[in-house]
Amino acid sequence: MRIAVTGADGMLGLAVCRRLEMRHEVIPLTLEDADITDRGAIRAVLRKTEPDTVVHCAAFTDVDGSESQPDIAHRVNALGARNTALACAAAGASMLYMSTDYIFDGEKESPYDEFDMPHPLNLYGRSKLAGEICVRSLLPAHYIVRSSWLYGPGGRNFVLAILRQALEGGPLRVVDDQIGSPTYTPDLAEAIEMLLASEAFGTYHVTNAGECSWHGFACAILEHAGIHNVSVVPVSTEEIARPAQRPAYSVLRNFIFQETFGFALRPWTAALGTYLLEERARGGLQI
Ligand SMILES: NC(=O)c1ccc[n+]([C@@H]2O[C@H](COP(=O)([O-])OP(=O)(O)OC[C@H]3O[C@@H](n4cnc5c(N)ncnc54)[C@H](OP(=O)(O)O)[C@@H]3O)[C@@H](O)[C@H]2O)c1
Repeated sequence: MRIAVTGADGMLGLAVCRRLEMRHEVIPLTLEDADITDRGAIRAVLRKTEPDTVVHCAAFTDVDGSESQPDIAHRVNALGARNTALACAAAGASMLYMSTDYIFDGEKESPYDEFDMPHPLNLYGRSKLAGEICVRSLLPAHYIVRSSWLYGPGGRNFVLAILRQALEGGPLRVVDDQIGSPTYTPDLAEAIEMLLASEAFGTYHVTNAGECSWHGFACAILEHAGIHNVSVVPVSTEEIARPAQRPAYSVLRNFIFQETFGFALRPWTAALGTYLLEERARGGLQI
């Protein structure tokens, strides 16, 4: 397949390109190649490169920044998705749109499946949900993939931030009243490759299995890294007071993915172990 990837130099885009390059012809698209807020630009690039499908990883991902810059969030996440879907329609390509657990309000006490009603609490979630709606209404041949708490090689992520703070001596203060599923980008990229081959279009939740709080995630990171002398203090969301409200519980049940492929992604703890081993082998960790 010829597969274009928007946001190709972002955290997920990098993992998707790396995975797909093994078996497919990949067209990596960065902001420089095509600004998705420019309808003509993304249309021209897809016309020229003629992909069979587009994996849409480009987004404005600053959750707190979206509160003070709602127009930018909507321009990139909603209209950018619309522009890409229209360009796909014109080029005869299908599209995989990346979405987020933050489209849910976190009021539920069991994992959200694909049939639960979205109700975002923050601007970022609203703009990503608007992107979903654009893609669904404009392009029948689409996948919408909701994932959560991503980390992986390339760029900044929660795991590296925790390790850096631990190396500075701590103590760390980490929120313990938000629950989700950390997801390793190479595992998600592998699932995306399976979806693209399936042509089973529709909406999917795809995360590593299991759940934890950010505090539990931080403790597991230090445990796996063999750091035992730094304390991790649990704090409440209220104490941290960030601009964007976040769902207290945003675990995604991977119901349709499991029904379609007959298996679940591995537990987040196993994926975390792999990531730390690989970062160490790459020389990216000073521990
Ligand atoms: N990170 C998470 O925890 C998480 C969780 C659930 C879902 N997601 C979704 O997964 C996708 C990938 O997330 P990520 O964490 O990999 O994001 P990321 O690292 O912030 O990457 C986003 C990419 O989009 C590009 N971009 C931004 N504005 C653009 C524009 N106008 N035109 C073209 N490209 C543009 C960025 O380019 P520049 O760097 O040059 O600006 C960057 O390459 C997003 O859709 C996000 O909503 C992320």
